Amino acid sequence: MTVSKEIKQFRSYVPVASSCTYLNSSFQPPMNQIVYDSIKKYLDDAISLDHPKPQFISQCEDTREKLGVFLNTDSANLAFTRDTTEGVNLFQRSIRWSKGDNVVVLANEHPNQGFGWLGLAQDGLEIRLIPVDESALKPFTADDFRPYVDEETKAIGLSSVMFHSGLRNDVKGIAKEFKPRGIHILVDATQEVGFGRIDVEDLGASAIAFSVHKGLSVPNGLGVLYVEPETMKLLKDTPPILCGGSISNLSPDLTISEDFEVFATAHRFEHLNKPMMQCIALGAYLDFIQSVGMENVQLYLQELGSYLRSELRKIGVETSGPDDVAVRSPHSNVIPLYGEQWASQFASNNVYVSQYRCGTRASLGLYNDKADIDHFVTVIKQGLEDGLALHS
Ligand SMILES: Cc1ncc(COP(=O)(O)O)c(C=O)c1O
Repeated sequence: MTVSKEIKQFRSYVPVASSCTYLNSSFQPPMNQIVYDSIKKYLDDAISLDHPKPQFISQCEDTREKLGVFLNTDSANLAFTRDTTEGVNLFQRSIRWSKGDNVVVLANEHPNQGFGWLGLAQDGLEIRLIPVDESALKPFTADDFRPYVDEETKAIGLSSVMFHSGLRNDVKGIAKEFKPRGIHILVDATQEVGFGRIDVEDLGASAIAFSVHKGLSVPNGLGVLYVEPETMKLLKDTPPILCGGSISNLSPDLTISEDFEVFATAHRFEHLNKPMMQCIALGAYLDFIQSVGMENVQLYLQELGSYLRSELRKIGVETSGPDDVAVRSPHSNVIPLYGEQWASQFASNNVYVSQYRCGTRASLGLYNDKADIDHFVTVIKQGLEDGLALHS
C-alpha cells in the first residue's frame, strides 16, 4: 500500500487521530486543521472587516464552482441546502403526483429519505417499501426494484451507500433502467461524496442530495441538492419552499411582487441566505481533496478497508457483505458484533465506532492508518479471548 505525502500529512491535521482510534467517519469525522483554519479565517474576517458579507457571498459562489468541477456538473445544477433532509424533501415535494401514483423505496432506507416519502402518503401517494433481509447483506440493483415498479411508479428513492451496511447500490443501473420510463430517481449520496469518486452526470439520477458533514468534513448545517436539467422541466412550477432565493427576477430592493419568476435551475431550491461559514470551509476542503486527488482518497480508503477485512479474517471474524470493492463503500465496514458488551469493549479501549442493526460499523477517514486497524483488530481479538460472543 503506497501512501502519498499528502495523505500521511493529513493525519497530523487531525489531532483526534492520535489521541484515540477514531473509526466513525460515517457518523461524523473529527475536525481537521484545513477546515478549522478556514472557519477561523471566516471568524477573523467577520470580526475585523467593516462589511464582510459581500466577500463571503462571493466565496460561496467560488465554492459552488469548485463543487461543480468536483461532481462533474454545471454549477447551475447545484443548490446549497441545510442538509440531506431538506434536499430530499424539496425534491420529493416538487414532483407532480397524480392520484394512484406510487414510489418504491427500500424498507431499510435511511430515515431522512424514508420518512420524507411516508409523509406524502397522506396526500394519496402509495409508498411501496421493498422488504429487506438484513441477515444477508447485499447491495441493491435494478433486479430488486423491478418487481415493485409498475406503470403508476413515479419515483424510486435510494441511498447510493447504505448508512448501516456500507454497501453501494447500483444507482447507475437503476437509473439506466427506470429513468427512461419516466420514473424519477432520487439519490441520497451522503455516505458516498468525499469517500468515493462521484460523477453525477455519469450516475444518471434525476436528483442527488447530500450533507457535507461526512466525507467532506465540514461542520453540520450545509447540504447540496443536484437536479438534472431535464428533470427540472418536469417538476412543479413552484418549489415547496418559495423565498427570495427562488426568484430569478427578484428586484434589487427586494420588493415582493406577484409578477415573480422562479429560477428554471436547481437554484430555485436555495435560500437567499446560505450557511456561509460552512460553504467557505467546504471550498477549502475541496481544494485539499482535489490536491490529493479523489481517486487517491478512494483507493487509500479501499486499501485500508481491505486490510481491515483480511486482518479480521485471520482471527476468524468475517466482515459483512462482499469483498468486491465495486459494491462496497471505500470507508464503511460492518462487523457482526452487537450489544452492550462490545460497545463497552470498544469504549474502554479508546475506539470510536457506531453500532446499528447489522452490527458494529467501523468507518474510515484519510486520517486513519494501518496502526488504527491493528489496534481495532487487537481489541476485537481480546474481546473474543475474554469470552464475548461473536454473534448476538
Ligand atoms: C445515508 C445518510 N443520509 C442522510 C444522513 C443525514 O442526513 P441529514 O444531514 O439531513 O441529517 C446520514 C447520516 O446522518 C446518512 O448516513
